[in-house]
Amino acid sequence: MSSSLLSAQEKEAAVRRNNPEWHLRGDNRLGFRSRRLPGLAAGILVAILLAAVASTTLLGSVRAGSPDHVPSNVAWTAATVAEASGGNAFRGLLLARRCEHCHGSEGFSPVGSTPNLAGMDKLAIWKQLEDFRDGKRSSPVMVPIAQSLSPRDVADLVAYYAALPIYPDPQDNRVFPEQNAQAGHSPIAFRLVAFGEGSRGIPPCQACHGPVGYKVGAPSLATQNADYVLNQLDAFADGSRANDINQPMRTIAALLSENEREALAAYYGAGLGLQPVGASGIAPKQ
Ligand code: HEC
Ligand code: HEC
Repeated sequence: MSSSLLSAQEKEAAVRRNNPEWHLRGDNRLGFRSRRLPGLAAGILVAILLAAVASTTLLGSVRAGSPDHVPSNVAWTAATVAEASGGNAFRGLLLARRCEHCHGSEGFSPVGSTPNLAGMDKLAIWKQLEDFRDGKRSSPVMVPIAQSLSPRDVADLVAYYAALPIYPDPQDNRVFPEQNAQAGHSPIAFRLVAFGEGSRGIPPCQACHGPVGYKVGAPSLATQNADYVLNQLDAFADGSRANDINQPMRTIAALLSENEREALAAYYGAGLGLQPVGASGIAPKQ
């Protein structure tokens, strides 16, 4: 990439090196001995045109590495961790009135394709709101909402949702946990969650999503809705969600078959991800 980042002067110097007749005359940077060598003038004109075409192509490749294609503007530094962790949960509770219509009054959504936020790790929710705000993650619903929040609002909302209990009120109108629609395929999901599949390069989900280990920014899936999990796996697999730093999820989701994605979504949506699995080698009861 750096080779395509030649400065204008460097490009000009290179053209001049290859065209010894090209002279700089005072401030007339395009001067050349046109009277002596009219053929050369045409040659240089062609060279300039070629350079223009080449630089357009170069610009294109520079753009490929430009901020538009960086998965997220979030970098996990001490400063971002402090910002994401320093919110006021009580103020967040007041702000969350704007969210509860969709995310539920206790952080459990009444619609399966809308994520549950109760008890989510602060850094994970904070990153998603930042990504929506920056347009790094697309959602016609969430982008304008996130853009309407101040950095302080985001931190306060994150503190509030992270503090909510992960065991929902049975009276609350929520979909989680659902009956496992893929109960017959649970062993497939269980194996991937517990062990991954080394031969295909798939690491175990529970190493990054808990409860065994948490990778910074990886949300817990243990209380997530099946429809939402499936939508996100599909979106990572086809690249329409591309905000994962270093691409772990785009890579993993693309390696999973549709059958496996459905089995995993149903597994988590049924609440089976709450306990670590694999230590005993026994699949949990369905
Ligand atoms: C009109 C419904 C609606 C409202 C209101 C709403 N959301 Fe959302 N939210 C959604 C939907 C739908 C998604 C999932 C988007 C997708 O599928 O990618 C979502 C996703 C999210 C996510 C990503 C969660 C994850 O696990 O990645 C966060 C965080 C979030 N919303 C926070 C909020 C907050 C905070 C508010 C209030 C300020 C709010 N939302 C208001 C519908 C809504
Ligand atoms: C190497 C660590 C790692 C592994 C292994 C991993 N994930 Fe992820 N996953 C992440 C990270 C990090 C994110 C958050 C991406 C972002 O920043 O938006 C994520 C996000 C997700 C999301 C979106 C959650 C949300 O709330 O929006 C789903 C669904 C998901 N992963 C499912 C899985 C499944 C299923 C597996 C196992 C097959 C798995 N992941 C394995 C790191 C991992």
